[in-house]
Amino acid sequence: MTLSGKRILLIISGGIAAYKSLDLIRRLRERGAEVRPVMTAGAQEFVTPLAVGALAADHVYTELFSREDEQDVGHIRLARDCDLICVAPATADLMAKMANGLAGDLATTVLLATNKPVLISPAMNPAMWAHPATRRNTETLKRDGIGFIGPMSGEMAESNEAGEGRMAEPLQIVAAIEALLDDAPKPLAGKKAIVTSGPTHEPIDPVRYIANRSSGKQGHAIAGALARLGAEVTLVSGPVTIPDPAGVNLIHVESAANMLDAVTSSLPADIAVFVAAVADWRVATASGNKIKKKEGEGPAPLELTENPDILKTIGHHENRPQLVVGFAAETADVVSNAQAKLARKGADFIVANDVSPETGIMGGDRNRVRIVSKDGVEDWPDLSKDETAARLAERIAGAF
Ligand SMILES: Cc1cc2nc3c(=O)[nH]c(=O)nc-3n(C[C@H](O)[C@H](O)[C@H](O)COP(=O)(O)O)c2cc1C
Repeated sequence: MTLSGKRILLIISGGIAAYKSLDLIRRLRERGAEVRPVMTAGAQEFVTPLAVGALAADHVYTELFSREDEQDVGHIRLARDCDLICVAPATADLMAKMANGLAGDLATTVLLATNKPVLISPAMNPAMWAHPATRRNTETLKRDGIGFIGPMSGEMAESNEAGEGRMAEPLQIVAAIEALLDDAPKPLAGKKAIVTSGPTHEPIDPVRYIANRSSGKQGHAIAGALARLGAEVTLVSGPVTIPDPAGVNLIHVESAANMLDAVTSSLPADIAVFVAAVADWRVATASGNKIKKKEGEGPAPLELTENPDILKTIGHHENRPQLVVGFAAETADVVSNAQAKLARKGADFIVANDVSPETGIMGGDRNRVRIVSKDGVEDWPDLSKDETAARLAERIAGAF
C-alpha cells in the first residue's frame, strides 16, 4: 500500500484518453490512496461523472458556481485538502489555461489556488503537442514547477496517426505519483546501481530470433525499488512490453552482446543486480537476409555459439561493483545450482527461483525466491514481484 492515506485530487479534462483515467482511479485506490475527482465540462463528454464517482467512491466536483459545494468556498478547500493534484489527461486547452493563469472553471481555479505539488499527464494529437503554442506552454509550466509524466509515443486514437502525444499508462502515472509523494528514508542515496531485466533476443535473420519467456516484471520492480531507496539506477532492459519504471535511466537493448556493452559502459557502479534472462547461446552467424524455406531441403541448420556471461564478466571485472547480485532461474536442483553459480560467477549472493512451468513465476506477478550466499540459504515466502523487489532492495541497502 505505497499510497496509504495519501489524498489525490484527480482533474480529468476533455481528451479521448479520459477513459484511461477510470483505470488510473482503480490503480491509485488499490495502493491505498483516496481519490477526489474534478471533471471539466469537456471531460464529461468522454466519460460520465457516474462512472468516475463510482470508481473513486467520492463526490465528483464539476461546477465552480455550485451552491452546494461552495457554501464554504469549496474550490479553495479542494485545492488545499489533498497531498497532490494530478491532471490526467491534460488537454492542450487546459495546459494553455494553466500556463496563462486562467481560472474560468472549477479545474483551472483549483489549479491556480493550490499550494500542493501538481503532476500533469498531457494527451493530445502529435500536431497539437508539437505546436509552438503548446511548446511555449509546456516550458512555462515546467518553469512554474509543474511536474510532467509523458506524453508517450505511439499510435493515436485517430486512425493512421502516430507520434508523441499519447497519455502515459495509468501505472506509469501511479509510479510518478509514488515518486513525488515518497518521504521514506533514502539509505541508498549517492549509490549507483545497474539492473538488467527482461529477455534477450538473439537474431537468426532480420525477422527471426531466439528468445525466452521472461517478462521483465521482476527486474523492473527491483530497479524501481532501488530508486525509491535513493539509488541512481540504470536499468538495462531487453525487449519487454511492460511500462518503464519511474525515476530510472533506461537503456533498451536487444541481444546479450548489446546488454553486456550497455552494462560495462554504465560502470563504475556500487551495485549490480543481474535479473535479465540472458540467452546462453546465439546463432553463430545471423543471416543478413531472411532465410528462405527451400522445397525438399529441410530446415536450415542453425549453428549456436556461447553468449558472453554478463554476471561472470562483471563479477570478475577490474571495475567490479562493491555488491554483485545474480539471479538463477532453474527448473531442477535450484539451491545446488545457485551455490555452484555463486563461486563461479563472483557474485555476493544469488537470488534463486524455480521457474518450472507449474510455478507460474516466469511471466507471472508473484515470486518465491531463495537467497543463496556464502552464509547459507534464506527461504523467502511467496510474495508479489513488487514485494520481493522491495525486500531485496532493503537487503541490498543493509549491505552498505
Ligand atoms: C473526439 C474529440 C477528441 C479530443 N481529444 C483531445 C485530446 O486527446 N487532447 C486534447 O488536448 N484535446 C482533445 N480534444 C479537444 C478538447 O476536447 C477541447 O479542446 C476542449 O475544449 C477541452 O476542454 P477542457 O480542457 O476544459 O477539458 C478532443 C475533442 C474531441 C471532439
